[in-house]
Order: sequence, then C-alpha cells, then structure tokens
Amino acid sequence: MINIYSDKKTLASEFTDFFIEMSHRYIPFYVALSGGSTPKLFFKELAQKVNEVKWENVHFFWGDERCVAPTDNDSNYKMTLDNLGENIIKKASIYRIKGEDNPEVEKINYAKIIKNTLPTFNNLPQFDLIILGMGDDGHTASIFPHEIEFLQSENICELATHPLTKQKRITLTGKIINNAKNVAFLVSGVNKAPKLEEIFNNKPTALQYPAYFIKPIGRLVWFTDKNAASKITD
Ligand code: 6PG
Repeated sequence: MINIYSDKKTLASEFTDFFIEMSHRYIPFYVALSGGSTPKLFFKELAQKVNEVKWENVHFFWGDERCVAPTDNDSNYKMTLDNLGENIIKKASIYRIKGEDNPEVEKINYAKIIKNTLPTFNNLPQFDLIILGMGDDGHTASIFPHEIEFLQSENICELATHPLTKQKRITLTGKIINNAKNVAFLVSGVNKAPKLEEIFNNKPTALQYPAYFIKPIGRLVWFTDKNAASKITD
C-alpha cells in the first residue's frame, strides 16, 4: 500500500497519526526507529503530539545505527533525541545500539537484547512496527546494495559498511525486518523517484535494491510525497 502526500511535512504529520494509532493498538509497543531526513521530520511532528502516546508502553529500538558515540552528529540515536526530545526518550523504554562500543561485540549484544525482549513469531523476534527510510541507492536500514546478502542473513544484526564513507554501521537484517507485523517506509524528495518507479513497476533493475525485498509477513505501507512518487504516477 502506498500513501502519496502533497509534501514531506504532511507525510510526517499523517505518519505521526498512524504511529499514535498503532501505539494504542499494540501494548506493549515494540518499534524499530530509523535515521534519515524523513524520519527526522516524523520525530519533530511527534514531539508536537507527545500527550497522545502512552510512553510507558513504548519500547524504542533502532533499525540501524552508525558506529559512533551517541553524542556524535552522525548518531541516529542523537537525531531522535534532538528532534523528539530527551523528556520523551526518558519516558519510553530505550534500547540504544551502542555505536561507541566494539562493533563486532555490539552486533552480538544488541541481537541478544532484541531476542530476550521481543516476542517471537516463526522462531524470530517480531517487532510491531519497523520504520524505514530508503537511500538514493535503494538501501534501507543499513543494508546496502553491495551487501545485499544481509537480507538473507541468519543473524538478527549484521555489521555493514557504507559504500562511500566506509563508515561501519550495525543493522537489522532482512529476515527480522520481514518478520514484523508492520513496516512503514518514509520516503520523500524527487531524488527517490527513479528508484521508487523501478521498485513499484517491478523493473529488473530493482533486484539490485535492498528496499525492493522488504515484503513483510505483516502490513507494508509506503508514506511518500508527490516528488518521490512522481514517476510512479506517470
Ligand atoms: C540511516 C538510515 C538510512 C536512511 C536512508 C534515507 O541511518 O541513515 O537508516 O537507511 O533512512 O539513507 O535517508 P534520507 O531519508 O535522508 O534520504
């Protein structure tokens, strides 16, 4: 299912309402958050409606994290803290990927936390909601085209390498993402249009894009703006 909004602020506002509704439906509510510019807008919108969420039920995980300190401007955790607000972060249950720790060790430790905290389905940990962005190259979470095998990894988490910056990142794997009850892509901007057109029209080139293989057992909803969806509607 794809929702196309006039602009990215409206997208973020509508997704906020979707999130709030989900937070009342799932108790407890296990969510994996995402980095990226569109998720950032969502956090800003959610910060305006914080009283509509029962934060004691909310368990925040991250779908991926850069291997940096939580004070680093590259940190997805810091981006959430800065835009959603520290007071909210303190009210919810927070399971931060420790980007400052040894990546090979944290990849294993974070997987253990997920396994020990979440309910299982198909013998795999199951999130109620996983929020994703999509990179211009068709990556999602930190599963990049050059490491597309992470979609099929038997591990809960993998240690990824950004193809350009070579920055190390810890990411959920495809099997965990596709085991979720709900997956929401938040994608805005004209630079996403070519990849969305290839994905939604099942073009052979889409087979290079990890985002193309996100087909959860539960519900998949794309939240896009007109610019990102401009080639789909042509
Ligand atoms: C990250 C995200 C990444 C992001 C995409 C889209 O850590 O950066 O997990 O997958 O969502 O790169 O980012 P934009 O929405 O900013 O293009």
